[in-house]
Amino acid sequence: TTTALPFKVADLALADAGRHQLRLAENEMPGLMALREEFGATRPLAGARIAGSLHMTVQTAVLIETLVALGAQVRWASCNIFSTQDDAAAAVAVGPTGTVDAPAGIPVFAWKGESLEEYWWATSQIFDWSAEAEAASADWTGPNMILDDGGDATLLVHKGREFELAGSVPDAAPDASHEWRVILDTLRASLAASPERWTKVADGIRGVTEETTTGVHRLYELEKSGELLFPAINVNDSVTKSKFDNKYGIRHSLPDGLNRATDVLIGGKVAFVAGYGDVGKGAAEALRGQGARVIVSEIDPINALQAAMDGYQVARIESVLGEADIFVTGTGNQNVITVEHLLGMKHQAIVANVGHFDDEIDMAGLEALAGATKVEIKPQVHEWRMPNGRSVLVLSEGRLMNLGNATGHPSFVMSNSFTNQVLAQLELFGTDYPLGVHVLPKHLDEKVARLHLEALGVELTELTPAQSAYLGVPVDGPYKPDHYRY
Ligand code: NAI
Repeated sequence: TTTALPFKVADLALADAGRHQLRLAENEMPGLMALREEFGATRPLAGARIAGSLHMTVQTAVLIETLVALGAQVRWASCNIFSTQDDAAAAVAVGPTGTVDAPAGIPVFAWKGESLEEYWWATSQIFDWSAEAEAASADWTGPNMILDDGGDATLLVHKGREFELAGSVPDAAPDASHEWRVILDTLRASLAASPERWTKVADGIRGVTEETTTGVHRLYELEKSGELLFPAINVNDSVTKSKFDNKYGIRHSLPDGLNRATDVLIGGKVAFVAGYGDVGKGAAEALRGQGARVIVSEIDPINALQAAMDGYQVARIESVLGEADIFVTGTGNQNVITVEHLLGMKHQAIVANVGHFDDEIDMAGLEALAGATKVEIKPQVHEWRMPNGRSVLVLSEGRLMNLGNATGHPSFVMSNSFTNQVLAQLELFGTDYPLGVHVLPKHLDEKVARLHLEALGVELTELTPAQSAYLGVPVDGPYKPDHYRY
């Protein structure tokens, strides 16, 4: 018999509170609800076994229940140790028809404030389908689809298989991060228990749909090196994802996180934003909207010029260290804020990251800094007293603070992202895609936008037949060539 746990969440008693929030979110997620309407009867995801790794929020709960409404079976973990909303996780575990005493929902393994060991344990759990296999008397033991955000689930399968083929898990290099050591330990234990586990999992996967810039970057790297094991759909680069979630989502959830964490007045302050991509644009606009004077840094001359034309000062961090009150990173790069930078900041400067991983700020370096002490103001808000006598306030220990200190992006924008996710799952599960990283076809991107117009009272103009012939663009789209940049 199976040893797989049915689920692990903080507190099932939060399920009712979570269910209320889900119900309200459904009304704000018209794209997902339209897909339930369109595909609920034919259930095109019947037979799909989706291993999901994505922030376990209220919006994700609506995504999960949409996948289930389309016929899929799902197991879920969060893709960040601080991003789970415990009420949403409880509601998903209990399910719409279950009760706290008789939960009948989805196997979800997520709670706010996981340790890294717990995080990688939870990620492993989404690949253990022995309970489902036993119930179905099936010969498979794993999922056949991955839905990923940041690429950790995909990484576990690729690395697990690589080490199994090599017959052993290597020792960590002396300068390896704590997290990499945890991953190696997780895979070492798994190799000892079941030497072909990840090879079998990898063989069973039809494809992965990836949510974010950083995860997509990892997929293209795997493709380039010839290591990619299954086809992937890059959901991030749907226009209705990155040009909306990354930008307008951050515009909402960054100030939300700053306010909940510190409640410091943003107006009149100097805010520094590293990176002027989609996330940086939303961050800078939000801070300017609150009355801050915003300074942007960029490595790419095109983005730097954009920031300048949008009216922002563009400077290197070293030039404005003592000037800024709030520092925000959103580059997807590492070591953007170094320990030396931290030491040069004003007393009680706020340091926050909204890029996917925690190494945008050199947190490992800060933890190793002699004479620095950490005072917890409240969970996910820490005052670091520096040896120079000043303090900096670090939010969410350097991890995604819009999810750690607040509740992430709001439902309406996530409905756009997740409608793309569901369409990508439908594509990959229903069609044989060649190995490689793909984006959704333009007509589906336009469909996602179309599904969100009515709720906002948008009146769309229609091409006349003569206009359509003049432009050479079909009345029903697609309206733009693939190289158009919006
Ligand atoms: P992007 O590629 O559009 O923008 C990143 C920008 O940072 C680029 O323009 C790049 O030139 C610049 N950059 C790189 N290194 C830099 C450095 N050392 N200093 C200054 N600028 C630098 O990527 P996008 O979509 O804006 O995503 C950024 C990060 O945010 C990724 O890790 C992504 O996964 C994450 N993300 C986070 C979300 C959240 O809810 N917190 C939502 C969406 C994305």
